[in-house]
Amino acid sequence: MSIGQTTNLLDYTQRNIGVIEHYIEALAVFGQQPEGGLIRPVFSAPWLLAYRQLENWFKEVGLSVRADAIGNLWGRAEGSEGGPVVVSGSHLDTVKGGGKYDGALGIIAALSAIRFLRENYGEPRRPLEVVALCEEEGSRFSNTFLGSRSIIGELHQADLEETRDPQGVSVLEAARECGFDPSNLASARRDDLKVFLELHIEQGRLLDDAGLQVGFVEAITGLQHLRVTFEGRADHAGTTPIALRSDALVSASTAIVELNQLARSLGHPAVATVGWLEVSPGARNIVPAKVEMSIDLRHSNNAIKLQMAEKIRQICLEAGSAQGVKVNIEQETDHPPAPMSPEITAMLTESAAKLGITGMPMISGAGHDSQIMVEKVPTAMLFVPSRNGSSHSSAEFTPLDQIVPGIAVLAETMYKLAY
Ligand code: GLV
Ligand code: MN
Ligand code: MN
Repeated sequence: MSIGQTTNLLDYTQRNIGVIEHYIEALAVFGQQPEGGLIRPVFSAPWLLAYRQLENWFKEVGLSVRADAIGNLWGRAEGSEGGPVVVSGSHLDTVKGGGKYDGALGIIAALSAIRFLRENYGEPRRPLEVVALCEEEGSRFSNTFLGSRSIIGELHQADLEETRDPQGVSVLEAARECGFDPSNLASARRDDLKVFLELHIEQGRLLDDAGLQVGFVEAITGLQHLRVTFEGRADHAGTTPIALRSDALVSASTAIVELNQLARSLGHPAVATVGWLEVSPGARNIVPAKVEMSIDLRHSNNAIKLQMAEKIRQICLEAGSAQGVKVNIEQETDHPPAPMSPEITAMLTESAAKLGITGMPMISGAGHDSQIMVEKVPTAMLFVPSRNGSSHSSAEFTPLDQIVPGIAVLAETMYKLAY
């Protein structure tokens, strides 16, 4: 039986738009800043409140609820025939000043889809689960994808002790403070998953510009994170002749301009960003002695991404040596581009066609838990439009009528997989 023969799930989702709106608005309260945008780092007070809210909603929908060792939250509907599990979800943490859709919408979409399916069709044959994943963004720790890496068994006990937030608190300590049992990390691994589906806002402007309703993600771009330290010498800003300085900030600035030019010269989809830096001692009348900064570089072609990374290292070293500044470069992460499952992506495409929803295949320029999950589980991603492509900012916005078609496609696909 297919949904289209009995219930039009697009109509049903549309009629229940109020439920979706309530989930979005109520969750966005946790971490909301007076000046706009959200700050909801993993294991923080607002994160934990959002987590408790989800727990209540999962229970309200009749799901059994379980927190795993790292702090992923699972809600489960049993299947009459058991077997491998169809899972959908996304992350609960936000970047600093982020929007209310990045991550949260994927959890809400999965919860809504499971709710609507059970309201229409009762118990599935296969178990269905929704998951709220833990620390995708690097919202608090420089180590990203903690939740999804635990699920596929690629986060290790030592990582939990070694990874610390800027205040020196380890993942182990922070997770324990929230009541999780991270010493039992291996138990977070799942070997019983049939499929992982993630609905997400596009975070770019292609769908909005094209006037299309959904995007089928063929692959997620490759990414490397570097942490660069420039060490020069503090000197008097009034008396030290300009030619005799070792100014760490001048070197860092030179590198920033040049790596931007490098990405421009490579053209789309090459990007390189310095989104954070710290200057020491940080005073108006002292020549900067030290700069620490992050570099985020991405390309969907792994070979080009690695060449970019190498060139950026040279840029930093040369920018330092021109000022007599010592440069240290540490690679924090490296992710190759991740193709999604063609079979499951085709199912999303068929579901959209069946419901009369327009869409196109695309590459994700943003990172997602799906790129981790796909290493062990057949995985696919569905995008809904982002107004003007805004994301990682308080301007992030997707109107409800552009969310409904995405949830309908997700539900139709979960139906095919689990009923
Ligand atoms: C996550 O949102 C990323 O792409 O950095
Ligand atoms: Mn994000
Ligand atoms: Mn996200």
